[in-house]
Amino acid sequence: MARYEINGGKSLQGTVTVSGAKNAAVAILPAVLLVSGKCHIENVPNISDVHILLDILREMGAEISLEGSSVTVDCSHVRSSRPDANLVRKMRASYYLMGALLGRCGKAHVALPGGCNFASRPIDQHIKGFIALGADVDESDDYVALEPGENGLQGGRVSLDVVSVGATVNIMLAATLLPGQTVIENAAKEPHIVDLANFLNTMGARISGAGTDTVKIRGVKELHGGSYAIIPDQIEAGTYMAAVAAAGGNVLVQNVIPKHMECITSKLQEMGAKVTNYDDAIRIQRAGKLRCTTVKTRPYPGFPTDMQAQICVCMSLASGVSRLTESVYETRFFGYCTELQSMGADILITGKTAIVTGREKLTGAVVSAHDLRAGAALVIAGLAAEGTTIVENTHFIERGYESIVEKLSALGADIRRIE
Ligand code: EPZ
Repeated sequence: MARYEINGGKSLQGTVTVSGAKNAAVAILPAVLLVSGKCHIENVPNISDVHILLDILREMGAEISLEGSSVTVDCSHVRSSRPDANLVRKMRASYYLMGALLGRCGKAHVALPGGCNFASRPIDQHIKGFIALGADVDESDDYVALEPGENGLQGGRVSLDVVSVGATVNIMLAATLLPGQTVIENAAKEPHIVDLANFLNTMGARISGAGTDTVKIRGVKELHGGSYAIIPDQIEAGTYMAAVAAAGGNVLVQNVIPKHMECITSKLQEMGAKVTNYDDAIRIQRAGKLRCTTVKTRPYPGFPTDMQAQICVCMSLASGVSRLTESVYETRFFGYCTELQSMGADILITGKTAIVTGREKLTGAVVSAHDLRAGAALVIAGLAAEGTTIVENTHFIERGYESIVEKLSALGADIRRIE
C-alpha cells in the first residue's frame, strides 16, 4: 500500500488549483446513461472514484475517451442493466447506477456499494424514492433489483424522511425520462445536486428547484448529447484552506465558487485566518495563533460534514477549547481522532460532540487513514506537526483528491509518496 511521508513545520505559499467536484462527477457520469448521444464533460477530477465509474460504464458498452480533465462518453450502445458487481463494490456512489439504469431501461440489478464506512450508510430513502416512481424493489443477497411494478413506472411524489444527497440524486436520475412529474420534498441542496440538475437540463431535461428543498422533475422522452463543465470541488478547496490555517502561510486557492465556500470561509475567519474572496478564487493567510471556535456540521448550506476532520485539526492547534458536533452521520470521529491523539491532539468525544483543547504543537507519528476525509485531515496534521509523519492507506485519500502530493509540494510542503 502507498504511504505519504511528510516533514512538517513548513508554511504553505503560492497557488493551488482546485479540480472538478468529486461528488458532482460521480453523479453526472452515471447520468450519461440517460442521454441518447455523446456527452463531452470538462473539469472531471482525475481520482480513483471517477476511474472506477468509467470502467463500469466501459464494461457495460459505453464508448469513452479521455483527454486531460475532459471525458467524452457515449452510452448509445449500452445494453446491460447489470453493472459489474466487483467494480460496483469498490466505491460508494456506484449506487447512482440504480437510478440511472431504472431511468434508462426501466430495470436495474446493482450490487450494494462499498466505499468509506465511517458510519452506517443506509439506502432506505433511495428505495422509498424508487417505490414512489412505481418500481418493485428486491434487496436480497447484497443486490438491489428494480423492475416496473404492476402499474408501470411514472412520476410520483416523495418526501424524504432525512435530507439525503444520495437519495435526491438517485430519484432525479430515475425520474428524468419517466412520464409525468416527480416532486422530491426535503431534498438535499448541495452544490453537486444543482450541478447534476444543470447537466441534465443542458441535455434537455426539465428539472426545477434544485438547490431548494423541493425539486420538480417533469419527465421528457429523451435527452440529447452536449457539453458540460463540472463545478469546482467545495471540499477539496476547503481542505486546502484548512491546511493553510493549520500549517500557516499565504495561498491563492484558484477555481472555486466563493458562494459554495461561505460556511467554511466564515469559520476559518472566526479562527483567525485572513480570507479574501475573488470571482473564482480565494486567498487565505494565517500568521498568528488560531482561535478556538464551535462548529456543528449541517447539510448544505451549513458547515459540511466532509470538512469535520479537517477543521478538527485546526482546532487541535487553536488557543482555547473548541467544540465540534456532528449532526449528519451518527459519528465520523473514530476515523481520525485516535490518530490525531497519537500526534498529541487533546480530543474528548462525548456522544456526537468532540471537545478539542488546543495544543502548542502536534508531533509527527505513523498514522493510518480510515476514510477519505480522515486521511486528508491526517495529511494536514502532518504538514503542521513538528517532525516526520507517515500516513498509511493513502488509497482512501486518492479516491477524492487529485494529485494531492504534487499540489502540496508546489505550495512548499515537504511531502512524498512512498510506494
Ligand atoms: C454524500 O453521501 C457524499 N457522497 C458524502 O461525501 C457526504 O458526506 C454526504 O453526502 C453528506 O453531505 C457523495 O456525494 C458520493 P446522505 P450520501 O445520503 O449521499 C442518512 C465524501 O467524503 N441516510 O446525504 O451517502 C445517512 O445515514 C463523502 O465525499 C439515510 O438514513 O449521504 C446520513 O446520516 C463521504 N437513509 C444522512 O442521511 C438513506 O437512504 C446523510 O446521508 C440515505 C441517507
